[in-house]
Amino acid sequence: ALENIELELFGRKLGIVTGYLKAIKDLTAEEKRTIGPQLNALKGELQTALLNKKAECIGAQSGKDVLDATEPYVNKGERGTLHPVTIIQNELEDLFTQLGYLVLDGPELESEYYNFESLNIPADHPARDMQDTFYVENHPGMLMRTQTSTMQVRAMRTYGSPLQAIVPGRCFRNEATDARHDHTFYQLEGFVVGNNITFSHLKGILEATAHWLYGAQAHVRLRPKCYPFVEPGVSGEVTCMLCEQKGCRVCKQTGFLEIFGAGMIHPHVLVEGGYDPKAISGLAFGFGLTRLTMLKYGITDIRLMHGSDMSFLKQF
Ligand code: PHE
Repeated sequence: ALENIELELFGRKLGIVTGYLKAIKDLTAEEKRTIGPQLNALKGELQTALLNKKAECIGAQSGKDVLDATEPYVNKGERGTLHPVTIIQNELEDLFTQLGYLVLDGPELESEYYNFESLNIPADHPARDMQDTFYVENHPGMLMRTQTSTMQVRAMRTYGSPLQAIVPGRCFRNEATDARHDHTFYQLEGFVVGNNITFSHLKGILEATAHWLYGAQAHVRLRPKCYPFVEPGVSGEVTCMLCEQKGCRVCKQTGFLEIFGAGMIHPHVLVEGGYDPKAISGLAFGFGLTRLTMLKYGITDIRLMHGSDMSFLKQF
């Protein structure tokens, strides 16, 4: 059909456009000047339209016959960008590897033992309610991990003492989703185990991290908080970098933002890890990586974080 149209328009003897073009020579100089360019433009337009249609038809045809999944992807100069969580994770990995920490990876599909029991949270402990999660059908005792603390006992058993490691990773909770809560988010865990590890070490590390992330003007405030796997346990806040402590919507007018939980590793956890708690002590801390990232970039809706909105993602 396309070839017939082409013939009708551009056929050497009877083509309509060909006819017009031939007729140019009989026009006056004045007419040639106005009609000539118009005819040429028309010819160009029609030819492009024909070519495009042809390409379309051929594409549709070959698409039906063969799909070559091995055809190399030709990148037309598009480049991806790092996800904002990845950027902050990289920054923290830089800090901790300089301090001599291992960077460990752990399974997202976990056993109840590593997620709860090994962390001094037995089956009837109320702390389980705050970390409800997704359990796997037909696999009793398997769940999507609610925290990266799951790697504490695993790493202790694998590496012994002394040990210092961080564990960045994805966590899950059974949350009703809104601008501040999501069923999927990232944490960055850290722990140090050895002889004479004290609370001062913990404070030093947390302050160094806050300065690395937000500059020397950032201050850390620790307040008692219960986590069954640390004793004593603290909630860690840093001075709000958005309002410089004047009070704003994000820090709820307090001047401080809660960004981590931390404490001295509970003796029960050390025993699970194969240590003698009389000889060995340890500290642990866990940053909300998603939260750190949102604060750093002023992102107010957590749901953007694993959406695929390119206009959001391209900004980083
Ligand atoms: N895992 C805790 C949480 O998810 C944070 C934490 C880590 C607290 C390490 C103390 C020590 O809330």
